[in-house]
Amino acid sequence: MHDIRIAAADPEELYRDLLGTIDALTAGEPDGVANMANAAAVLWQYLPDLNWVGFYRMVDGELVLGPFQGKAACIRIPLGRGVCGTAAATARTQLVPDVHAFPGHIACDVASRAELVVPVVRGGVVIAVLDLDSPVPGRFEAVDAAGCEAIAALLASRIGERR
Ligand code: SME
Repeated sequence: MHDIRIAAADPEELYRDLLGTIDALTAGEPDGVANMANAAAVLWQYLPDLNWVGFYRMVDGELVLGPFQGKAACIRIPLGRGVCGTAAATARTQLVPDVHAFPGHIACDVASRAELVVPVVRGGVVIAVLDLDSPVPGRFEAVDAAGCEAIAALLASRIGERR
């Protein structure tokens, strides 16, 4: 198995290590499901204070649940609905300190209080979103958005159809 080395001296270093680990785990593997599964597992293991992390994939114009860690979740999310649907429709990261204040937030788990959703874009098209939920209000900050955007950019060519 891969030798995972994660230091957590500060969030920037943590995200650098997470990016390197996910790069090593997915490089050369053509199966997108396997790559999303390992990415979700690594983020779940090393990011503190999460109650859900995983992917929704764009399938025939709507978001469909992909590999994740956490409780069973909503399966299909229409574009423009909730935090995930907004990230997918706008192709912009959604950093929500308090989901109760986000109009249309979809409560898959009532414990979720903060959410970060990063679009995965390939060739100008949103092919998936990476969704992180936390029970801690204000859990996600700019450093989390930047770190997850780098991971999404890395995965963009590694989570689609088999190459
Ligand atoms: N809360 C999300 C739905 C997905 S779950 O959190 C896993 C949303 O509003 O899009």
